Amino acid sequence: MSASSPSPANADLADAGDLAILRWHDGYLLGYQPMDHVHEEFVELVGQLQQAADAELPALLESFVAHAESHFGEEDRWMRETDFPARECHINEHAAVMKSVMEVRELLAKGNHAVVRDLAAELAGWFPGHADYLDSALSHWMCKRRLGGKPIVLRRGVESGRVGG
Ligand SMILES: [Fe+2]
Ligand SMILES: [Fe+2]
Repeated sequence: MSASSPSPANADLADAGDLAILRWHDGYLLGYQPMDHVHEEFVELVGQLQQAADAELPALLESFVAHAESHFGEEDRWMRETDFPARECHINEHAAVMKSVMEVRELLAKGNHAVVRDLAAELAGWFPGHADYLDSALSHWMCKRRLGGKPIVLRRGVESGRVGG
């Protein structure tokens, strides 16, 4: 995604009706609770960014930066710590979004509010696909690891009785 080319059409998105505003619904639940909680916060913050008045944007963007650093950093850590397969693509996508967010933060400091609205619209369009494709695979992986601990205890007796295994 790129935040460097704000289009005038995107500046109107916040006024274009509810369809354009990112809103939480249970369809976004992926099953790994720590991730679902963070995603609900992400959706809330992006929705606020989309609807905020200019004067509210600096504080809201700072909240979003803090959220995104924690959100992406935590997912990156889960992937590295558990040797999640094909994690580079997911980690790189987080990094690309973070880069855009930091560029927008600098532009906002120079008084450019339109670029924040453009970013918010891009994030609203980006999240469902990212969650559906990359985060859902990670959620499944983390759930499987968590649930995978139980059968080991049950199998202990079987394993010790196994011959030549
Ligand atoms: Fe995520
Ligand atoms: Fe992610």
